[in-house]
Amino acid sequence: MTEPTRPPAVGVLDQGPARPFPPGFLWGAATAAYQIEGAAAEGGRAPSIWDTFSHTQGRTIAGHTGDVACDHYHRMPDDVRLMADLGLRSYRFSVSWPRVQPGGSGAANPEGLDFYRRLVDELLGHGIEPWLTLYHWDLPQPLEDAGGWPARDTAARFADYARLVADALGDRVRYWTTLNEPWCSAFLGYGSGAHAPGRTDGADAVRAGHHLMLGHGLAVRALRAARPDAQLGITVNLYPVDPASEAPADVDAARRIDGLANRFFLDPVLRGSYPDDLRGDLAPVTDFGHVRDGDLEIISTPLDLVGINYYSRHVVAAPVEGEQPQDYWRASTCWPGSEDVRFVTRGIPVTDMDWEIDAPGLVETLERVHREYTDLPLYVTENGSAFVDAVVDGQVDDVDRLAYFDSHLRAAHAAIDSGVPLRGYFAWSLLDNFEWAWGYTKRFGMVYVDYDSQARIPKSSARWYAEVIRRNGLAAQ
Ligand code: FCB
Repeated sequence: MTEPTRPPAVGVLDQGPARPFPPGFLWGAATAAYQIEGAAAEGGRAPSIWDTFSHTQGRTIAGHTGDVACDHYHRMPDDVRLMADLGLRSYRFSVSWPRVQPGGSGAANPEGLDFYRRLVDELLGHGIEPWLTLYHWDLPQPLEDAGGWPARDTAARFADYARLVADALGDRVRYWTTLNEPWCSAFLGYGSGAHAPGRTDGADAVRAGHHLMLGHGLAVRALRAARPDAQLGITVNLYPVDPASEAPADVDAARRIDGLANRFFLDPVLRGSYPDDLRGDLAPVTDFGHVRDGDLEIISTPLDLVGINYYSRHVVAAPVEGEQPQDYWRASTCWPGSEDVRFVTRGIPVTDMDWEIDAPGLVETLERVHREYTDLPLYVTENGSAFVDAVVDGQVDDVDRLAYFDSHLRAAHAAIDSGVPLRGYFAWSLLDNFEWAWGYTKRFGMVYVDYDSQARIPKSSARWYAEVIRRNGLAAQ
């Protein structure tokens, strides 16, 4: 690894000796292809559902698209140098399916694969472990035109694509995750329609969720056959779900939302079954006729690791007669069969997304997965926060974001202390980027991006994180 140019330590790190993380803890940062690459019509890339969606009027804030984004496609070597300067041990990126297999089936696009070969070589050359996500929401448009994730065939196409990427990059990438946050793909993409492709049908969302997991299982089998030595996993977004009170109706609302948000994916992937209560809750929506014999065995194909994205907690209450949920993320159709559950805010500090800041929820989430589901190594594959940033004298002093990272890393440390096999942490995100339907209005980066000049400015949180990595730990408090 090249010696990073280290900025001075800031704030909390000066308060005492480091609280160490286990040796070899994988410190990283994450991004996703459509959010940073740009070059949407270059190098043989064809449109994905996110190109179509973002170019459709009214779908994203101010009509923002990922056409240019952070222009990472052209600036990749500089961006990798920036990662090395921060001392990152690993970088989690996603491969753009429509860049490497533009039609969603059939031949690969050599120019697309070549971009990722160069990225991986650049990372390895700087001693940074590549962590590859196969699917971060950019389904090739031709596959959506053929039915999208609600169509069973999409799962088979995904496995073919996985094989094609493994053949090109399997000799140099050790860590592979199949899907990023299948809940979002299924329930925001096909349920609420807040994400691409913007469809709104609860039964389709449930079918999409199943076929995403089927695609995951088939892809794991294809990857395992191609690269027996690879470390394979999936990334799910999890939330503790608390009832607003002890009242049985509130407790039941929490059970329902926990079923849809968490257990819908954890149970099939890690236990090989759908929970009975979830099937019951969904009975008015679907008869699960799309689940075929053998599917759950494929979906629960053994893994080497589980990736968890954590941002916040849900607190929910029983429906109130005549009241319609309105909130953007919590739009009723994200929760088929449980549309009228109310999401309650607690009045605690929130980020610029209005997501409540709840670091103890990370400990609970990690402990739960370990206790109830698996002994596998766990990784936090995303955690971070959006705040409004100001550039003052060429600097961005993002104290709120720094505090968010600090509190969540303390939570990660507490989970390790309690016996959770947590092996790594990826900050979301390396760069400010295209935040889906929010366009460029929400900044999650440790590195500020000036979208006019494409200048990168490491924020205080980035300099702080570099120190955490260098010390392999946090200051005692
Ligand atoms: C996650 C996504 C990621 C980013 C963060 C803020 O749900 O995986 O792409 O949008 O949220």
